[in-house]
Amino acid sequence: MSLIFLKFFHYLAIIFAGGVLVGGGLIQSIFTRSNQVPDKTVGKVLKILGYLGLASLIILWITGILLSNLIYGGFAINTAFTIKIIGAAILLILSFIVNIHVYNSSKNNEPPNKSIMKFATMSGRGLIIVVLLGAAIAFN
Ligand code: HEM
Repeated sequence: MSLIFLKFFHYLAIIFAGGVLVGGGLIQSIFTRSNQVPDKTVGKVLKILGYLGLASLIILWITGILLSNLIYGGFAINTAFTIKIIGAAILLILSFIVNIHVYNSSKNNEPPNKSIMKFATMSGRGLIIVVLLGAAIAFN
């Protein structure tokens, strides 16, 4: 029963994390392409998306740690799994950094730094692919 519960929340959090990357990335790229900075309302949306992404990653870590321990008795599962959690760890750190940066810039009434946001979105996309491939190979 607890396994079903943990798996369900692991998958639900994947949907949210992916949605944030796709939705937030799309909004940002549209604004960048038209050489505009998001206005206050869109900025608010991006800020909430950032929090949602971070919350989903934290849920992925909590449920992931519990699943690893319950099913496999620890983290020594296989190489693909190790790559998956390294990717997930970098994603978590990246999400923390971006959220702190966006929080600080909105406090100072400035738009977030374009290069930081672009780098974070691009690496976020790459990392989620690494993590998903890692999961597919690890548990095949
Ligand atoms: C961005 C973060 C993450 C993503 C996108 C992700 C994705 C996935 C996916 C797609 C599966 C399903 C694989 C399958 O059942 O065939 C899965 C399962 C699993 N994940 Fe994650 N995961 C993430 C983070 C983590 C973390 C941080 C851990 C552990 C510390 C973890 C541990 C596990 C375990 C143990 C399973 C297998 C459960 C089983 O055998 O049914 N995951 N994950």
